[in-house]
Amino acid sequence: MTKTEKINWLVKTYLSNNKESLSVLKKYWNNDEQLQQLHDDFIENTISNFYLPYAIAPNFIINGKPYVMPMALEESSVVAGASLVAKFWSERGGFKTNVISTIKTGQVHFMYNGDFNELENYFHKIKPNLLEATAAITKNMRKRGGGILGIELKNKSKELPNYYQLHVSFETKDSMGANFINSCLEAIAGAFENKDIDVVMSILSNYIPDCLVRAEVSCKVDELDAENGNEFAQKFQQAVQIANVDPYRAVTHNKGIMNGIDAVVIATGNDFRAVGAGAHAYASRNGTYESLSNCSIENSVFKFWIEIPLALGTVGGLTKLHPLAKLSLEILQNPSAKELMQIVAVAGLAQNFAALKALTTTGIQHGHMKMHLQNILNQLGATQGEKITLTNYFNDKQVSYNIASEALEKLRVTKILE
Ligand code: MEV
Repeated sequence: MTKTEKINWLVKTYLSNNKESLSVLKKYWNNDEQLQQLHDDFIENTISNFYLPYAIAPNFIINGKPYVMPMALEESSVVAGASLVAKFWSERGGFKTNVISTIKTGQVHFMYNGDFNELENYFHKIKPNLLEATAAITKNMRKRGGGILGIELKNKSKELPNYYQLHVSFETKDSMGANFINSCLEAIAGAFENKDIDVVMSILSNYIPDCLVRAEVSCKVDELDAENGNEFAQKFQQAVQIANVDPYRAVTHNKGIMNGIDAVVIATGNDFRAVGAGAHAYASRNGTYESLSNCSIENSVFKFWIEIPLALGTVGGLTKLHPLAKLSLEILQNPSAKELMQIVAVAGLAQNFAALKALTTTGIQHGHMKMHLQNILNQLGATQGEKITLTNYFNDKQVSYNIASEALEKLRVTKILE
């Protein structure tokens, strides 16, 4: 079917032939046919586009350099929180970051029903052939300083009878490397398989505990707040400690971190599902699900930091293909993948700081509902004039859907609000 035929089929079969539905789908098409075609071709059966707001969070200072963060997400408060926190820390030395490691992993999973020593001997004998089998695929990557770092044989037969792995480590430089890793693994598997070895599958792992980045902020406790610095720091630290001992809290705590991380990951055309899966697995590395961030107060110095695995690319994938992803990278001054890891970790830490600050002081709803007010007013069909009046009115008042609805009704009847 052509695109039009697919849409007609869908509208007829599942949308009661409703002209309104057809018009919604078409409203989101881009007028620029070439641009629309580009988006159509990203995936299969594309029938329209699904917008996310694209925003910028200014004020970030990372290792002494100023940044504006491009963010794509639908949740109100996140961009405002990030910008405020970035400003707060820009006046206290900014964010300090460093990349700890950049190793990625892939596995060839296979079954072997025989003597392990014989398998080991075979592995050592054939190892040069395995590397040889990937030579053409790794040629360009090797020129850029990346490639295969090592291949290990792992005996997993205690966990699952007859199950073994080739555990392959990679350096993928500025690319996220998923296609590169998977192509290498399939070539390795092809060269490794024999009549006694039955390959089950070859695929990269999104668990990347050795592709780690750290971001940190710190200042004297009394620089946090001249009057209540100590109390603020104590409560803040308790909030992090709670997330470290209670998985129910840890998941929400880390979700707040991912609010910042995903927004920049999406804006730069990176794979947020891979980042999310890797981050949450890393949060469980000690056997229980814990906070991805940490906090210390020592000698009256407050320190707050995150260590998180991030598989990101600044070349390949959608990074240069999607015009807005390309623009995001330009806004970030065309970072290397390592620089992008640091920027994204900062987005996560800033967001976590914003959430914990709100939670341990005013409560989260105070700021959140204020930011959400525009959504509520849009839902209630408020005019531009009514929105301005009501936004001013709620400046120093609590917001909820019902309260906003009543205020709008009152405004329409009396034309004034007190
Ligand atoms: C909401 O999207 C994120 C928070 O729940 C994070 C947190 O509780 O730390 C506010």
